[in-house]
Amino acid sequence: MSEISYANSALLLERAKKVIAGGVCSEFRKYNHPHAIFYTHGQGSKIYDVDGNEYLDFTLSQGPMILGHSHPTVLSAIEEYSKHGQMFAGQHIKEIELAEKLNEIIPSAELLRFCLDGSEAVQTAFRVARAKTGKKKFIRFEGHYHGWLDNVAWGLSSPSLEALGDRTSPNIYPWSQGISAESKDEFIVLPWNDLALLEKTMSEMHHEIAAIITEPIMCNNGCILPAQGFLEGIRSICDKYKSAFILDEVITGFRLSLGGAQQYFNIVPDISIFAKALGSGYPISAIVGKREWMSLIEESKVIHAGTMNSSNPTVAAALATISVLEQEQPYERMFMLGNKLMNGLRKAAAIANQKVLVQGPGPMFILAFTEHTAFNDYRDTFSGDKAKLAKFIAGMHNSKIRIIGRGLWYISAVHTEEEVDHAIKIAAEVFLTL
Ligand SMILES: Cc1ncc(COP(=O)(O)O)c(C=O)c1O
Repeated sequence: MSEISYANSALLLERAKKVIAGGVCSEFRKYNHPHAIFYTHGQGSKIYDVDGNEYLDFTLSQGPMILGHSHPTVLSAIEEYSKHGQMFAGQHIKEIELAEKLNEIIPSAELLRFCLDGSEAVQTAFRVARAKTGKKKFIRFEGHYHGWLDNVAWGLSSPSLEALGDRTSPNIYPWSQGISAESKDEFIVLPWNDLALLEKTMSEMHHEIAAIITEPIMCNNGCILPAQGFLEGIRSICDKYKSAFILDEVITGFRLSLGGAQQYFNIVPDISIFAKALGSGYPISAIVGKREWMSLIEESKVIHAGTMNSSNPTVAAALATISVLEQEQPYERMFMLGNKLMNGLRKAAAIANQKVLVQGPGPMFILAFTEHTAFNDYRDTFSGDKAKLAKFIAGMHNSKIRIIGRGLWYISAVHTEEEVDHAIKIAAEVFLTL
């Protein structure tokens, strides 16, 4: 395996720690190998660090870089559209064009608002759901991630599998100190993919439940697909009890298909959230929904605001990203490449006698070291050998292949078959070292 140095990153991290809390600006960035790394630039499927290392990038900056880094169409659109103004505290034409485009391609879209990121768009959706239904709580599912803010930052970590307790009423723990204890009263956590339990809970508590929020695929843990009929079941439960069905498409949006998971699974939520891939790395997200829900914002019954919302560069970035995706239709290729990579990793692991689970739809998937042949819910993911996974990720990184630390891989529209073959070859070598 090739020699690699992280010396310049290590020096910069020491400097950063003196002025940036922990040296990083998002908690997840702390946990790179061998420590937080500093990058100089990204181009296509590659990203480069301050030590001159070139990595084949399967993190895609946690998902946003669906067109790869520094896509020329995106960059020139931003430059062109921002040079005569960056934001106006007022409206601009491309904002309408972007909204029209999203309303055309996202099946459930009738009205929308732009925000900055997934976390705040999720909170906007809760506000709409509470206002419209007059109810207080929402149901969310074990292992799903909906941002870092208080009422969704419970149940993201557990000291152990046992500490989760009874699966029908999971124990939940705050992700960090400082999370308001009262925020725990805003939601109920249930295991995912258990429609009978969801139905039972709703039949008993529907008068309190404003919304059910779910990722369409449990991308943040195990890359678990919805059980047959589960999303459809949520739809009919929400219809029956007049609660909002909120689909969190922050990862799946523009990744499973142009119209997101709702198009892929043919499911119609009341409200959905898009972020990450929408802006190719620029801070833009959208809360998108049926008119009957979004009209509360229209009528200012629900307030949604933000100085930085729909700034010129972010809107230009999103329009350009969508136009490239529309023209190139990379989806068949992304599924094909993802599946090729998944199969290659399975074979390479088997040859090295490593028990792995590689699971996901293709454009994103996870690799875990486990005896399980499938992860069906969050609790299954505890069987994963985290120490071995960390060794694997470190070995890949030392061989210049970058993967998200929890074993998640993202495929972009610009990855090539040769790059996928290369990643399989390197993984085969790394598996033998574990
Ligand atoms: C499914 C999902 N929802 C919401 C969020 C929060 O989005 P953001 O990090 O843009 O605030 C994330 C972030 O990873 C996510 O994966």
